[in-house]
This record gives sequence, C-alpha cells and structure tokens, in this order.
Amino acid sequence: MIDIHAHILPGMDDGARDVNEALDMARIAVLEGMTGLIATPHVAAGLYSREKWQILDAVAALNNLLIKEKIPLQLYPGAEYLLEPDIPQRLRSGEILTLNNGGKYLLVEFPFASVPVYAENVIFEIMLQGVTPIIAHPERNAELQKNPGRLAGLIHQGALAQVTLGSIAGLFGDKAKYAGINLVNQGLAHFLASDAHSPNNRPPLLKTLLKKMHQQLNTGMIELLTEQNPEHLIRGKPVKRVEPAEKTPKQKQAGRGLISRLVKKLRQTP
Ligand SMILES: [Fe+2]
Repeated sequence: MIDIHAHILPGMDDGARDVNEALDMARIAVLEGMTGLIATPHVAAGLYSREKWQILDAVAALNNLLIKEKIPLQLYPGAEYLLEPDIPQRLRSGEILTLNNGGKYLLVEFPFASVPVYAENVIFEIMLQGVTPIIAHPERNAELQKNPGRLAGLIHQGALAQVTLGSIAGLFGDKAKYAGINLVNQGLAHFLASDAHSPNNRPPLLKTLLKKMHQQLNTGMIELLTEQNPEHLIRGKPVKRVEPAEKTPKQKQAGRGLISRLVKKLRQTP
C-alpha cells in the first residue's frame, strides 16, 4: 500500500517535529503494511511558505536516513496546497510541487469551514494545464458535509477526492465520520490516506483502521482506494473513477418526477 498524504518531513509544518518522530512514523507505516508514502507538507501563504526545492531536498535526506536505518519504506515528494486563487499561475511558472513531482496530480485542501467561491474556477484552470487536483479530506469540510452535491460537481469537473481514514474511524467527530463513509460507499472518493501528523496523536495507520472499519465500508472499494489508485498516481497513470452508487428505485422515481414536472412547466411556459 502507498499512503498518498502524510506530514512526515521533520520540522516542515505541524507534522513530525524532528527526525526521530519522522523515523517513528516511518516504522509505524511499515507495520501498517505500507511500502511507500508521499510526503505532503502544508503549503499556504503566510503560514507555511515552503519552496519546491526545500521539499525535494528534505525527501531525499529522509530517504537516505531510511536506508541507513534499514526501514523498508520509499518516500515520494509532494505537498498539500491550500487552494488559493493564484495556484494556476504558480503552477504555470513551475513553482508548485505536484505529487511525486510527476506533473499529473496536485493535492489541494480547502479551509475547514467553507469552500472558497473561486474553487470551481481554480480547479478548472488547474485541469486546463493537464494536472488533476485531488481534494484532501472533503469529509472534514463543514460546507461539503452539508452540501455533498458541491463536491460531486467538482468531481464531475474532473477533480478527485481523498478521504482520511481517521475521519472514518471517528477521529474528527460524527459529521466527518458519516460524510467520509458516504463518500467512499457512493463512489465519490478515489483515495484513502492517513494524513498522518505524528507517531503518537495522528500516526500513519492504515491496516489497523481498515480492519476496524471494514463493516462500514464497501469492501470492494478498499483495494482500489488504498492500492490500485495510489500506484497509478505514483506512475502518473489515470486513476480509476468509480461510477456513483446505483440509485434506489425510490430515488429513480423521485428523479423521474422532477424531470416530468420540469417538462410540464416548460410546456406551460408561453
Ligand atoms: Fe494534510
């Protein structure tokens, strides 16, 4: 398994505080069945102003240390960008670090309370450059919890979604938990990741949580979201999009009712 979202680089953000914590996180990741992990420190104007080269250097240094410590884990470079209006322009100028530096996928996050008004435009402009945005933990966003249709719209535009396993395990409250379960089971999630921040409070757990949660999740999705899609991402190949879950007869009937009401209304309009 490859974890596509983890704050393992020491001293870069609110993740691992030092090299010892980073190595402990790597040891846990291996015990949890991971063979690879994408290091994704936060990048946000005024908060975490990390340059691309700093992240690439830090990943290379930690990979060397992993070899020295005989920890069988491969780190890949990446970052988690706050979705800001100038991301498309920064991407064009080459200052943005895409996942595995492959120029295909970009991890972005929204503020937790809302979705910015410019989100659809920025996602569109990123896509125009041949890069697919992956929306980090949409299940933790208050607006998307209330209005999952907005996330469905972004996915329809071409974006992908990464659900955090800790959310599904209840780490961020019931709203995030049930939003996360619904996204996975309805085919609106494309990756499950740890979003690990430390060896103690938010460790890189995958196997343990999947075992605990398998009754609530559509098990047919787990391999795709934790193994196949992360592998494809690393190789820069297209990831598999799952068709949203089949609607129940009642939902289909409701949809037909809406369409016939619209047709009726249009016919009545002079
Ligand atoms: Fe994160």
